[in-house]
Amino acid sequence: MRKGEGDLLNRCCAALAHAESLQRLRTLRPVVTGAGARLTIEGRSLVNLGSNNYLGLAEHPRVKAAASAAIERDGVGAGASRLLTGHRSDHEDLEAAIARLKGTEAALVFSSGYLANIGVIPALMGRGDVIFADRDDHASLIEGCRASGARLRVYRRDRLDRLQTLLAQRPRSGAVLIVTESVFSMEGDLAPLPDLVDLAERHGASVMVDDAHATGVLGTRGSGSSEHWNLQDRPIIQMGTLSKALGALGGFVAGPKILIDHLVNRAKSFIYTTALPAAIAAAAFEAIRIVEDDPEPRRRLWANRLFWHDGVRGLGFDTFNSASPIIPIRIGSDALAVEMASALAAEGVYAPVIRPPTVPAGSARIRTSILATHTVEDLVLALAAVERVGKRLGLA
Ligand SMILES: Cc1ncc(COP(=O)(O)O)c(C=O)c1O
Repeated sequence: MRKGEGDLLNRCCAALAHAESLQRLRTLRPVVTGAGARLTIEGRSLVNLGSNNYLGLAEHPRVKAAASAAIERDGVGAGASRLLTGHRSDHEDLEAAIARLKGTEAALVFSSGYLANIGVIPALMGRGDVIFADRDDHASLIEGCRASGARLRVYRRDRLDRLQTLLAQRPRSGAVLIVTESVFSMEGDLAPLPDLVDLAERHGASVMVDDAHATGVLGTRGSGSSEHWNLQDRPIIQMGTLSKALGALGGFVAGPKILIDHLVNRAKSFIYTTALPAAIAAAAFEAIRIVEDDPEPRRRLWANRLFWHDGVRGLGFDTFNSASPIIPIRIGSDALAVEMASALAAEGVYAPVIRPPTVPAGSARIRTSILATHTVEDLVLALAAVERVGKRLGLA
């Protein structure tokens, strides 16, 4: 082995040992089946409180049939990027459906939500510009902000007075963008979008919202945060994912056609990557049609969410300010959170533990996410397990 390689492996070894000493080592465990209400790990069936497949569309018969038919017609991989030979009518149909759902002129699909965020922001912002990002924004948003070369300033959504001061102090030249998630993925609370949009308008800034956990979930029609807050006529750049409530894979941006044409020309993570397979585009298209046609899964999702939220809070747990199907249970110490997750697994409940650096030190949590497909029995079983384990660990 050359010396440089050895040095890098030593570095990896030290980093892994350090993470392990802090109880923060991440490891992979195969799940045999299950993006749904139940999953099978190592031969055991567990209630799944760790999926973003909120409406159960990943295993919906219509979604599966659409994907299978497209595979038969078109094969598995797209074979090239969209600008070469990877572009299919399935992408066009999907983009038209996203634009319809979001109420925008146009939309553009990326191969993942992560790729959308790291592509869109640098395509719009650059040196001399300023971006204001919420301190809990997803890693892909922060990566996108950093890659843009714009000045990055971080704000807290519970201190918008400070954001206002920062906006007032911004340089007079250059563009300004406020970037936020609409449903925070690790806290489950909602961004104060109407206030952010008002502030942006007053200070000549634009707003980009990441609707990863809102698409299909928020709003009477399930179209997301703009509908929920009645902001459809405001100029918000709406990003989202196809990978969560829509049960497929991929990311998107919805907005004016001129924005979409610009991204086709400038978003590197769109241009230089293989297109989303036609089968996935067809599956996501069908999922959007189900969201539009059938409010029942969304009704069940919110009923389940209410039951679970009330139950967990009734046991005395702090659930941050959750107002969505993401309901984190605050534990605090990393070691205790790990212990709680493994005790829950032993009781038949899979609930992921979220530790630093994903969340701030001292705020380790069990992140539960509720699905439309959970049965009352699933939730009763899981709640009883949370109560037993919480009492045993002195938390409930
Ligand atoms: C808020 C947020 N934005 C973006 C992403 C990335 O989306 P995807 O999983 O489709 O790459 C995620 C998912 O992890 C997310 O939670």
